Amino acid sequence: MAGKMWAGRFTKETDERVNDFNSSIKFDARMYRQDIEGSIAHAAMLGECGIIAADDSKKIIEGLQGILADIESGALQFDPTAEDIHMFNEAELTKRIGDAGKRLHTARSRNDQVALDIRMNLKVEIREIQALTKELVETLCKIAENNLTTVMPGYTHLQRAQPITLAHHMMAYAQMLLRDLGRLEDTYKRTNIMPLGSGALAATTYPINRQRVCDLLGFDEITQNSLDGVSDRDFCIELASAISILMMHLSRFSEEIILWCSWEFKFIELDDAYATGSSIMPQKKNPDVTELIRGKTGRVYGDLNTLLVMMKGISLAYDKDMQEDKEAIFDAIDTVKLCLTTFIPMLDTMKVLPENMRNAAAKGFINATDCADYLVKKGLPFRDAYKITGTLVHTCIEKGLTLETLPLEDYKALCETFDTDVYDAISLDTCVMQRKAAGGPAPESVKSQIEYTRNALNAYDK
Ligand code: ARG
Repeated sequence: MAGKMWAGRFTKETDERVNDFNSSIKFDARMYRQDIEGSIAHAAMLGECGIIAADDSKKIIEGLQGILADIESGALQFDPTAEDIHMFNEAELTKRIGDAGKRLHTARSRNDQVALDIRMNLKVEIREIQALTKELVETLCKIAENNLTTVMPGYTHLQRAQPITLAHHMMAYAQMLLRDLGRLEDTYKRTNIMPLGSGALAATTYPINRQRVCDLLGFDEITQNSLDGVSDRDFCIELASAISILMMHLSRFSEEIILWCSWEFKFIELDDAYATGSSIMPQKKNPDVTELIRGKTGRVYGDLNTLLVMMKGISLAYDKDMQEDKEAIFDAIDTVKLCLTTFIPMLDTMKVLPENMRNAAAKGFINATDCADYLVKKGLPFRDAYKITGTLVHTCIEKGLTLETLPLEDYKALCETFDTDVYDAISLDTCVMQRKAAGGPAPESVKSQIEYTRNALNAYDK
């Protein structure tokens, strides 16, 4: 793009390398819509306040609408040599409508303009991430509903610990995701504040009406300090942080899916459409999607770190370092959306193998706590009951038996209190059904969790 707008102050053209280095249009062009909508609101306000002529305001607005339409139809391409999307739109406007176009930037700086554009852009993105997150939560509720009695081992230290159901396990992730939704909602609130009118850093001497721009663009309120208005990127960091935590949850879930579809577990089978093969080993069916999600989580943490480090040492107000905010936050946004978009149908189509889950739960003395609890209910102190059960487990291991198959004589030999009803007390189904405390794995408890979760989702739609 020939001739810089600051050419008056300079006696030389910008070095080509500096031009390229400085340019952000490659990654900020994606804010074209927000840049145009923000400019339209600004021009309308300038006209209403008598800062520019009503006729110029009208020409600017129509010109910008034309640019928007042409970008969206593909008739207008971004100029890769433009410095950024703001300069591109303004130059194009002036090309189209002449002098009136040169009045658009009255009472405005690119510093408050870019702050506005990012906020508007992130508002759209946050809503999209939330919509995908809600879809994932609903998918989990559906899987849970279909698996209320699908018994599986619950683990601690990846050792079989106590029996749960697949429904219970799914609803654990649903709770994490509900909190992710909440974090995104909080971020939205702090993003929804309108910075235009902060000017370069010290606001403006023109009699602007910031509240009018705020209302036109649908923001909650205006920023309260012009220095802060142009130099705050907390909301980007907050969003990157909310996305990082969401990715952490997806990654943890992915790790479990990877384990579950191994031959060692075989709790689930992924649909062929969501698995991949090997170029050499014909038997392979690999969970690449989940591995990529696990891998991409690191990349999103990197984006968060980029933003944190970028901001930690820069003086007020705007510094060019801050141009680096966009690639980082956009990468985090694109990555999480990509992950969610693939993860949801993968989960929705996976085949649950309930028998394998139950078999795994039947081994490994997962009902030992319930065996001890049986004695406690018959009057023994828990510590004594715990010790007796430990000895029983030892006996079983020596004899190659399980608590379910150990003969009553062996039970009685250790403690007279045992009777035939012990077998019912330690059956897997009893173990799960009895855990009906709020939050527990019993089907009725998980049903309430599903109801709670669906109500929480509905509250977002109101
Ligand atoms: N492309 C710039 C950015 O993304 C826009 C703001 C430029 N402001 C300035 N004073 N050079 O940060």
